[in-house]
Amino acid sequence: MPELPGGFLWGVSTSAYQIEGAVHEDGRGPSIWDTFAGQPGRIVDGTDGAVATDSYHRYADDIALMKDLGVGAYRFSVAWPRIQPDGTGPANQAGLDHYERLCDALEDAGIAPVATLFHWDLPQPLQDKGGWLDRETAHRFGEYAALVSQRLGDRVKMWITLNEPFVHMSLGYALGTHAPGEQLLFGAFPVAHHQLLGHGLAVAALRDHSNSPVTIANNYSPARPAGHKPEDLAAAAAYDALHNRVFTDPLLGLGYPEGAADLSVVREGDLDVIAAPLDALGVNYYNPTGVRAPEEGSPLPFEMVPLDGYPTTAFGWPVAPDGLRELLVTLHGRYQDKLPPIYVTESGCAYDDVVTADGTCDDPDRIAYLDAHLAAVDDAKADGVDVRGYFVWSLLDNWEWAEGFTKRFGLVHVDFDTQARTPKSSYAWLRERIRDHR
Ligand code: NOJ
Repeated sequence: MPELPGGFLWGVSTSAYQIEGAVHEDGRGPSIWDTFAGQPGRIVDGTDGAVATDSYHRYADDIALMKDLGVGAYRFSVAWPRIQPDGTGPANQAGLDHYERLCDALEDAGIAPVATLFHWDLPQPLQDKGGWLDRETAHRFGEYAALVSQRLGDRVKMWITLNEPFVHMSLGYALGTHAPGEQLLFGAFPVAHHQLLGHGLAVAALRDHSNSPVTIANNYSPARPAGHKPEDLAAAAAYDALHNRVFTDPLLGLGYPEGAADLSVVREGDLDVIAAPLDALGVNYYNPTGVRAPEEGSPLPFEMVPLDGYPTTAFGWPVAPDGLRELLVTLHGRYQDKLPPIYVTESGCAYDDVVTADGTCDDPDRIAYLDAHLAAVDDAKADGVDVRGYFVWSLLDNWEWAEGFTKRFGLVHVDFDTQARTPKSSYAWLRERIRDHR
């Protein structure tokens, strides 16, 4: 695998629709999130990402913040609707120009560009044909990956094909709390397979145009059985298969876990495309999930329950750094020599951070969170897991999907009225941490 800068890689992550704004500029077409956010009742505060943190225009400010922080890499996403406003056809050069400028500015600052190709903002015209329920979307994604890598293949230092395909399937197509808002429950499975197929086709396209390492960022959540009854253990295993294995087993050449997938959409040869060798595995971790046996007659093989004994973030998510260590060690044990090196591509927390009258923003809970999760990474490394980097979600407070502007994940506070950026105390803490590490 080509070397990324600096041994253990420190990074920060963002995504296009959450930070860019400028939704009508330089030929960008509409995405499913423009559509979804425009529907009444979808977003808790009624907002959308039309302006977000205005990073399409303010990327130089963002890069200055990252340079001062001392990170070696920036994980951003390329907005597909900027490159192919209709989801198909030739590239919109103005869209590519933007990401080329961003990469060049990062390089000038000594920061490696890490580009995610799909962070949930599908071009609306592709959704009109079925989105990821339609097998053709996988082929369109491969073509889009080729267009991006033809232009940026030498600039981007690591590629991430998809962001959290499990979350996109489950919230977007099974439960409908994210775009495109479908509520198909287990009928959403084709979305898993077509995203994975699209991933495999994208890997092939990226290999044609770039020598940089290629990975995917999966969300993982260790399943914690609520009791010791065999039914609870079986429920936890079913949850684990769905959340943690449906996307990773086939990526690493093991096919779909038995019983967890509807194989009717799988065609001959697909699993080989999906299992294209990866240079790394991206791990997004937020929390474990409590699981118990379902009520009789439930359509699901498990029921999710709150986990006792952990403090929670402003999102209500348990703060469980032990889950990160457990996850990394489990991946290592489960996949053994099939597992490539791991990058933690997202880790972070939301708190109700405020800028006080003296102009500072103190977020001790985030410092404690990051400290504990970095210790979990160290523990996993001591247990033999090859973890090569850690990316904080997120550089900036931003537009948190269905939660709108109500959840602040940033190391840097953003005033969404003025766009003023105020580094929080966690930013200063992390800067020291990165310096000490060097
Ligand atoms: C994972 C997603 O990739 C990101 O877009 C989101 O903001 C964070 N989780 C926090 O929910």
